[in-house]
Amino acid sequence: MPQVISLGDIANYIGQEVTIRGWLYDRTDKGKLQFLQVRDGSGRAQCVAFRKDMDETEFEAARTLTQESSLVLTGTVRQDERAPGVPGGFEIGIKTLQVIQRVAEEDAYPITPKEHGVEFLMDNRHLWVRSERQWAILRVRATIMRAIRDFLDDHGYLAVDTPILTPAAGESTTELFAIDYFGEMTAYLAQTGQLYNEANMMSFGKVYAFGPTFRAEKSKTRRHLTEFWMVEPEMAWFSLEDLMAMEEQFIASIVGKVLEKNRAELKILERDASILERIVPPFPRISYDDAVTKLAELAAQIDDPEQKALLQIEWGNDFGSPHETALTQLYDKPVFCYNYPSAVKAFYMQPVEGRPEVCRSVDLLAPEGYGEICGGSERIFDSALIESRVAQIGLPREAYAWYLDLRKFGTIPHAGFGMGVERAVAWICGLPHIRETIPYARMLKRLYP
Ligand code: 4AD
Ligand code: MG
Repeated sequence: MPQVISLGDIANYIGQEVTIRGWLYDRTDKGKLQFLQVRDGSGRAQCVAFRKDMDETEFEAARTLTQESSLVLTGTVRQDERAPGVPGGFEIGIKTLQVIQRVAEEDAYPITPKEHGVEFLMDNRHLWVRSERQWAILRVRATIMRAIRDFLDDHGYLAVDTPILTPAAGESTTELFAIDYFGEMTAYLAQTGQLYNEANMMSFGKVYAFGPTFRAEKSKTRRHLTEFWMVEPEMAWFSLEDLMAMEEQFIASIVGKVLEKNRAELKILERDASILERIVPPFPRISYDDAVTKLAELAAQIDDPEQKALLQIEWGNDFGSPHETALTQLYDKPVFCYNYPSAVKAFYMQPVEGRPEVCRSVDLLAPEGYGEICGGSERIFDSALIESRVAQIGLPREAYAWYLDLRKFGTIPHAGFGMGVERAVAWICGLPHIRETIPYARMLKRLYP
């Protein structure tokens, strides 16, 4: 049997006889010629079965092969600009074909090249992941996951894992998944690794947590999952300005890695790479105060009362998705919005000196209406102040005693942020909905498959 190759590397085998192991993606019947689109996980190539070049029964198997049947074939690689595939431009002239499992007619593969409804596709997610768009998205996701780690590992951050089963809320008490812990207490699925990250930061200086996080949010939007992956860097001595400077480098390096490794995937997704090429530091920065003014100006330019109302916002309220969308449309790069009202942000955020109604917080809003992809802040480091915040919002002190300890033993100014991986994938891939950015989405009404 000739050498088994990966279709992703097909360009290296022009003129050679090779073996391909994969699945039938699609087939075009031209009588004596059968054009099999074969995918093998790394790519896809057009494999041509020509009656006169093949054994009669093997040709017959090719002629009647069903979608997603598994196969092993051998043949010679030819360069042909017109040939479709990933990468395109190559064709394999089939010599032998062995069908490993032929998908039976009565089982017909449910996801055909015709259009399907999204709920149907989500119900068949275990099969949908084989479709080329999904394949491309999940490959970009993998690049992003790796780029996150590479950047942080290369810049002096230590990966320190934080627990998923936790005794108290990390972010807000309203979005917790509770679990019975041996009938003795309630555990909660972590909403964030941040509080533990702060403890780890005091040991290692610059750390990051990277793992799944959980939010029992009953919001059915195109931006919310109940299980999502978050990377959370936490840095000793960092100010809000340091945080923004680091974040823009971090985001630019992730986008850069995707541009370097995933051109073919971006093409499949019809994502204009030139939009991503503009994502280089510095990113614009706007204060919450100025953003509210800006939104009022934008609202004033709108005639339609309904559209106008969507943009109107009273100082002190959190931005909703229409506000974020409008703000991000002003720029072609992500924009930092900082100094939000303290009342709409988490208890641990450092108040602005002399103006405690706003805090040293920053959200990074992605362009093209994608909205918040990162949220972060300077943390309160004064012991008395953090104690009073915990008391003020009624958190049970005993559950946070360990966190409060951090302010008693060598407390220092520090800052950190969290980036939601799926929000970043949606933006970088240019997807309208977050559900396709994770292999198996968990949402308000979705726990299957
Ligand atoms: O803004 P959030 O809630 O911040 C935190 O959890 C901080 N403790 C992070 C930190 O400072 N270490 O969430 C951070 C990011 C958001 O910007 C968003 O990208 C993502 O996590 N995110 C979600 N992604 C998908 N579905 C959801 N329900 C999300 N909630 C937050
Ligand atoms: Mg946030």
